[in-house]
Amino acid sequence: MKKRLLVTRRLPDEIHARVARDYEAVLNPEDRLYSTDDLVRLSADFDAFLVCLTDKLPRGAIEQLAPRLKVISTFSVGYEHVDAAAARAKGIAVGNAPNGVTIATAEIAMLLMLGATRRAPEGERMIAQGQWTGWTPMQLLGRRLDGKRLGILGLGKIGQAVAKRARAFDMLIHYHSRSRRPPGEEQGAVYHPTLEGMLAASDVLSIHAPSTPETRHIINARNLALLPRGALVINTARGDLVADEDLIAALKSGQVGYAGLDVFEGEPKHHPGYLGLDTVFLLPHMGTSAIEARIDMGEEALDNVDAYFAGRPLPHGVN
Ligand code: DGY
Repeated sequence: MKKRLLVTRRLPDEIHARVARDYEAVLNPEDRLYSTDDLVRLSADFDAFLVCLTDKLPRGAIEQLAPRLKVISTFSVGYEHVDAAAARAKGIAVGNAPNGVTIATAEIAMLLMLGATRRAPEGERMIAQGQWTGWTPMQLLGRRLDGKRLGILGLGKIGQAVAKRARAFDMLIHYHSRSRRPPGEEQGAVYHPTLEGMLAASDVLSIHAPSTPETRHIINARNLALLPRGALVINTARGDLVADEDLIAALKSGQVGYAGLDVFEGEPKHHPGYLGLDTVFLLPHMGTSAIEARIDMGEEALDNVDAYFAGRPLPHGVN
């Protein structure tokens, strides 16, 4: 008998087709949001959940899940929205989708970097608001990326993909991770054992670390002050790594020259202080918004569910 799988959000047709072939599935073509309470209630009717980062399953909710639910797989690399330790304690396997996100997210980091350093958002607004009166030699002068030091916080898969693309722009790669990466991953990048050391050597900071209690607000007033004046700050990871009030103050003072942000703490809410600033390039969490990425993410998330019911370890298990 087919297992019952709840797919909480609307996913690409290719993924729906695989789900419908292999599971007794409930899809969500209207893409309405389930609340945590909905998910707890629905757990009595399903063997597996395929969730997204918008579905919140903290410890208290996990503890109330019905015994029928055996596996939760998330259509995302980040899994801070599911308490994986609590799930483990309850015997529920949790998996994520760690690979398909990589290139698409790295591309958005480059887009933000280029847009920030060449002031593309201001140019776009100038035309949209009918304020462009013609070419001038000094209009919207930015800076080139070549020769600039890119400090990557977290040289995992996405960090490495950003480094690869930034090298093609002749940037100099620096990074900080908890431990030094092997030479094949470093590709000559300069390792800084401390975040502070890397920040002091970063004309551009790009954040690629997960959201954990330890990384919350890691980019704060103290750390922003260590960047060279006028540095760019790019965040495609999670909004809660940045202390918004501190970044806004640093943008206002000129300590940070430009911020390119794809993610926000508490999104879709975002700090209103960003909206009055010229020196921000803001996107609505589009890092993985490429059809290739979304299909790969769906395949990886389903691979976890398939493996569980085939009695195999999850290929992308996180607990
Ligand atoms: C992820 O996979 O965690 C991304 O943020 C989804 O866009």
